Amino acid sequence: MKVKACRKAHFNAAHRLYRKDWSDEKNFQVFGKCSNPLYHGHNYELIVGIIGEIDPETGFVIDLKILKQYIKEEVEEPFDHKNFNEEVPEFKDVNPTVENIAVVIWDKLRKRIESQYEIEVTLYETPRNFVIYNGA
Ligand code: NI
Repeated sequence: MKVKACRKAHFNAAHRLYRKDWSDEKNFQVFGKCSNPLYHGHNYELIVGIIGEIDPETGFVIDLKILKQYIKEEVEEPFDHKNFNEEVPEFKDVNPTVENIAVVIWDKLRKRIESQYEIEVTLYETPRNFVIYNGA
């Protein structure tokens, strides 16, 4: 029997979606307002799900206090109030779309969480636009 235990978190960050090899006009056609050369911010909402068996001793899938700490160290401290393009090394040459940010978060948490657990990252860029990544 597997249960998904989830922790929510939040961060604000700035980005610009663009390709260096495209003109500003082409970037605007494809990325819209997110291609603004002077950047803009989003209020990102994160849900991290950890899927595993319930430990019969504790009744926990995972200690959510520990998950909270991993999210703080791997996501909130490096991303909150940062400019993805300029300040976060993972996005030096990667477009900081909500898809790519979710994959980077998953990769960082995967390194911290024991392999018997599955990890699911749900990341909202706006209240209506979100992605889900589980490593597949
Ligand atoms: Ni944007």
